[in-house]
Amino acid sequence: MTLSEDNLNYFIHTYGCQMNIHDSEKIAGILESMGYVSCNSAENADVVVFNTCCIRETAEQKIYGHIGAIKKIKKNNPDLITVICGCMSQQEGVAEKIKSSYPFVDVVLGTSNLNLLKDAILSAQNRKKYSNVDFLQNREEDFPQSRTSYPNAWVNINYGCNNFCTYCIVPYVRGRERSRPMAEVMAEVKQLLSQGYKEITLLGQNVNSYGHDLADGVTFAKLLDEIGRLDGKFRLRFMTSHPKDLSQDVIDAIASYPNICDNIHLPVQSGSTEILRRMNRRYTRDAYLALIDKIRAKLPDVGITTDIMVGFPGETEEDFADTLDLVRRVKYSSAFCFVYSRRKGTPAYSMDDQVPYPVKKDRITRLIACQNEVTKQISQTMVDKRYEVLVEGANSHYQDTMCGRTESGRLVNFKCDESLVGQFVTVQIERASSATLWGKLVTEEKCRKIFHL
Ligand code: SAH
Ligand code: SF4
Ligand code: F3S
Repeated sequence: MTLSEDNLNYFIHTYGCQMNIHDSEKIAGILESMGYVSCNSAENADVVVFNTCCIRETAEQKIYGHIGAIKKIKKNNPDLITVICGCMSQQEGVAEKIKSSYPFVDVVLGTSNLNLLKDAILSAQNRKKYSNVDFLQNREEDFPQSRTSYPNAWVNINYGCNNFCTYCIVPYVRGRERSRPMAEVMAEVKQLLSQGYKEITLLGQNVNSYGHDLADGVTFAKLLDEIGRLDGKFRLRFMTSHPKDLSQDVIDAIASYPNICDNIHLPVQSGSTEILRRMNRRYTRDAYLALIDKIRAKLPDVGITTDIMVGFPGETEEDFADTLDLVRRVKYSSAFCFVYSRRKGTPAYSMDDQVPYPVKKDRITRLIACQNEVTKQISQTMVDKRYEVLVEGANSHYQDTMCGRTESGRLVNFKCDESLVGQFVTVQIERASSATLWGKLVTEEKCRKIFHL
């Protein structure tokens, strides 16, 4: 939709993970069904939504700063409706804190309350405050959606988390694990493919435990089988996989269907068995490494990515050395590296032996350098080879440059026409600068026609 002065406009600030990015597509859909139109800043908006994250303290501080800035905007536009939703508002005491410290906020909703957004906005239009952060039994999913990530489409398969890793706030703010019925997931996937989406990414805090709470015996492997069997050229990805629940059936399903990408995000968190135990991850270093061997035996070209944390309470230099060693052994194509952040309400918050910040800082620097070295080595092996790439969109930093991903999940930049977005093309890698790959389009029949070659 285009911006017009007569329209009511909305602006959404999205923080955090893919769950939130996808929730924002639902928020946008709800607002558009009410006649609001997307705009480019809070200054031009009639409704501003903060879809928040509280995974680390730094994320939270940044968000409070951004919410604070609304006060000034509201002075110029007293009718501006301000909505806070997402994980931060679901934390204990936060709704009250917002009420007292940010009285200009009109609506506070929790992670399970998006179905109340329309009523909340209508109340706010009548200058009534609205607040609800209760977990509802069944979060309905029949929202209008305004998708923003073509050719990819996000699809939730399970919500919440039962794992209670000792550092993590997610189970407290997203509630217990609930799986969507398989028929519902399949209907959404089929509809998206018929609409022309070329990549489906299944979302869950732990996709591998999909179905365990449903009575019909469905599993994640069965869901992959069902989707893998669908006709047509498309890619299927999923995240996140908890290592303790990644079954041989899932690995076999990935190997069996060409549509399922050889790409697994498998957060390890630490390379030390003792730290993993204190984190309540429920696998050991050796079990994780054995799982990697099992995956690679079946999927030799797989791209494996991970999340790693440094400075968990009690992490010694020796524990950290185990993490560096694991990174070098596994050879991740990339890793999200985090400094442990104390989250109130989690068991690790009150553990002894909190690691001092300078030590954490030193370790994160060394970890990132180590992973960069690994990524660089992998990138070098890709030079001069050809890969199938799904063209995703323009690289905003370089003119006429598009980017897309290989099946294994590596991002490649190359020159091509924007009309190829959503198409599968062949790209030859020409050079690699650590994480970034640069290539050239290999002209094939389809491309020749478009470029009149
Ligand atoms: N469900 C996913 C992860 C969700 S949170 C999984 O289990 O893999 C994404 C990442 O944030 C985690 O993998 C972890 O590495 C990091 N993270 C979570 N809590 C954190 C904390 N308290 N401090 C720092 N990083 C944290
Ligand atoms: Fe957090 Fe662990 Fe659940 Fe992931 S599996 S969301 S890290 S508690
Ligand atoms: Fe995601 Fe942040 Fe919530 S990482 S689940 S948006 S706490």
